[in-house]
Amino acid sequence: MTSILFVDDEDSVLQGLRRMLRPYRHQWKMTFVASGQEAVAALAEQPFDVLVTDMRMPGMDGVALLAEVMREYPQIVRIVLSGHSSKDTTIRSVGLAHQYLTKPCDRETLERVVVQALKLRETLLDQTLGQLLARIDSLPSLPSLYAELITELRSEKTTINRVGDIVAKDPAMTAKVLQLVNSAYFGLPRRISSPPQAVALLGVDTIKALVLGVGVFSQFSNSAGACLDHEAIWEHSFRTAAAAKRIALTEGVARLDTDEAFTGGLLHDVGKLVLSQAFPERYTDVLSRASERGIEDVQDERAIFGVSHAEVGAYLLAMWRLPDPVVAAVAYHHSPNSPAAVAFAPVTAVHAANVFANRWPGEKGRGSSIELNMEHLDRIGLAHRADAWREAVEPLLVGESCWSGSAGIAT
Ligand SMILES: [Fe+2]
Ligand SMILES: [Fe+2]
Repeated sequence: MTSILFVDDEDSVLQGLRRMLRPYRHQWKMTFVASGQEAVAALAEQPFDVLVTDMRMPGMDGVALLAEVMREYPQIVRIVLSGHSSKDTTIRSVGLAHQYLTKPCDRETLERVVVQALKLRETLLDQTLGQLLARIDSLPSLPSLYAELITELRSEKTTINRVGDIVAKDPAMTAKVLQLVNSAYFGLPRRISSPPQAVALLGVDTIKALVLGVGVFSQFSNSAGACLDHEAIWEHSFRTAAAAKRIALTEGVARLDTDEAFTGGLLHDVGKLVLSQAFPERYTDVLSRASERGIEDVQDERAIFGVSHAEVGAYLLAMWRLPDPVVAAVAYHHSPNSPAAVAFAPVTAVHAANVFANRWPGEKGRGSSIELNMEHLDRIGLAHRADAWREAVEPLLVGESCWSGSAGIAT
């Protein structure tokens, strides 16, 4: 039985939750407490799978409680259920919570979020995946500049200039980020020449995602013997990210979802780099099998490794504490129906964007036979939107390369 701890200082909220969730009492063991301190005491007494907490509470607030649970009980799923405010929203994007819900929240939404969070953990705790990853000596690390940005964003006093200055400290990163920012994908009216300017125009979250993407990809060396063309994967990832963001914008979803679609798109194939770097010979096998059959490499990866690049990438991102919707977008970008979605989510955008990006002529036919998962689109009631998405992303995909000439990213 799943055990869930609910924390809220308002008695009426706790009573409302208790009433609303009564029908779940046979599948969930629920505990309700009125403060952070009481939550800490309850956690010390019995194991929990999920924490659902308010943010603004007297005494120990949500941030302090989430930080303590993250440190002491990292396996517990941390969900925020809070009144809406931009400061609260930042919490989701800086790794303290896995999921962010706003009040009032109906029971179906709460149930779906809990079920999906547990399902995602099941995917990531898969034995085959664990054994495979245990054999990899060095997994890429969370880029330090990204970690620094996260710390800055958690602070009360953060400003656009301070975020920009952190990026500017690293000249190589600055050059790559500015190159991407000035590419046709963003369609900015004028040339951007400094990180603070880039942050002001594109927003902190886009710059943060770019720093993460650039920092991750630069950890993989494109050595002569490498079986994958890293630069081509980066190019494909960037196109997918831009297309995923465009699809999310077309659906008019919240900004946070749009940003998470972009981040998910940027990192959706990172598992390919991990697998091919750690097991070059076996990965060469995957690629030759895939090219013989002219289909995408997921099935061949499964045949050879028992898992695919989707789960490997998702595991890495979960380890780095990226929010659940980004991790899920990567984990399920080839099988968006598996988390039993009922509404548009970043995974929908990344899945569709990847399909469209793979059809871009410059992709040299790589994986061009993968199709949109219409079952998923049907289930979330958006099958009729597929053509509109295709049209919306077309201008992004027919354009020239995201940088001119030789200054690629995977050096
Ligand atoms: Fe993929
Ligand atoms: Fe892809």
